[in-house]
Amino acid sequence: MRWDDGQRVTFDATDQDWTATRRLPQALIIGVKKGGTRALLEFLRLHPDVRAAGSEPHFFDRHYSRGLDWYMSLMPKALEGQIVMEKTPRYFVSADSPARVHAMSHEVKLIVVVRDPITRAISDYAQIASKTPGVASFESLCLQNGSGVGGMEVNSQWSPLWIGLYARHLERWLAYFPLAQVHVVHGERLVSDPAGEMARVQDFLGLERIVTDKHFYFNQTKGFPCLKKPEGSSQPHCLGLTKGRAHPQVREEVIRSLRDFYRPHNLRFYKLVGQDFGWQ
Ligand code: A3P
Repeated sequence: MRWDDGQRVTFDATDQDWTATRRLPQALIIGVKKGGTRALLEFLRLHPDVRAAGSEPHFFDRHYSRGLDWYMSLMPKALEGQIVMEKTPRYFVSADSPARVHAMSHEVKLIVVVRDPITRAISDYAQIASKTPGVASFESLCLQNGSGVGGMEVNSQWSPLWIGLYARHLERWLAYFPLAQVHVVHGERLVSDPAGEMARVQDFLGLERIVTDKHFYFNQTKGFPCLKKPEGSSQPHCLGLTKGRAHPQVREEVIRSLRDFYRPHNLRFYKLVGQDFGWQ
């Protein structure tokens, strides 16, 4: 084994190139926050041909001025034939990200995990509440005085609701990338049928279907699929406590207002991607 220039580790082998190098990613999980992005990345990591950055680089939204060399330094070394990827869910809603990603590569594959925007918003709120003691209720943040029923209307500017306007965000990406380069993962199905969703993701990435139902079991306590043997371990593993939080109860009439609010946006999204997610 040899090291050179801090970028490469070389295994001396006779008939194969075992040189692992750092490369820019060929695939990105661009969103959506609270959609199930960590689960998807952990599941993809089981694949021997995937190498993924551990934490969220936030390069295209926050750290773009640091340059591509900095970004590349965050990537794990990969062998030829392996796919390098990272996930930063903020990219999906960041105005600058599509053009910047496109400037890095016209060919990069983009993955978005989506989930019913109402459940997603409640999940987002549960995360905010866990970090901000005394935060106002979900209901009071999502409704504001206005011309709606009972003098209230949905506050579409509130970030947990705004992020769920999937069609609006996706359209910005489609100005730079063809739909064929975007794979939309069904967040609810990632929970109910992780192997099925993973088969589609592996096909999209041009990977052999190696991550299958053999890798998952449903953990009753967690209430989610967990891994029988995660990368680098022989022990079963579930995602941590920040994934699968308890959600606050939201009154039915508030949910109804949110359904009415999201309906046209959801329909537009289904049309854009050619798939009905059945959220209303
Ligand atoms: P909740 O905490 O609201 O249940 P992200 O990783 O993008 O932040 O998404 C978090 C969400 O991933 C969780 O939201 C959970 O519903 C979902 N999820 C999907 N598959 C999961 C799994 N196998 N284990 C835990 N959470 C999972």
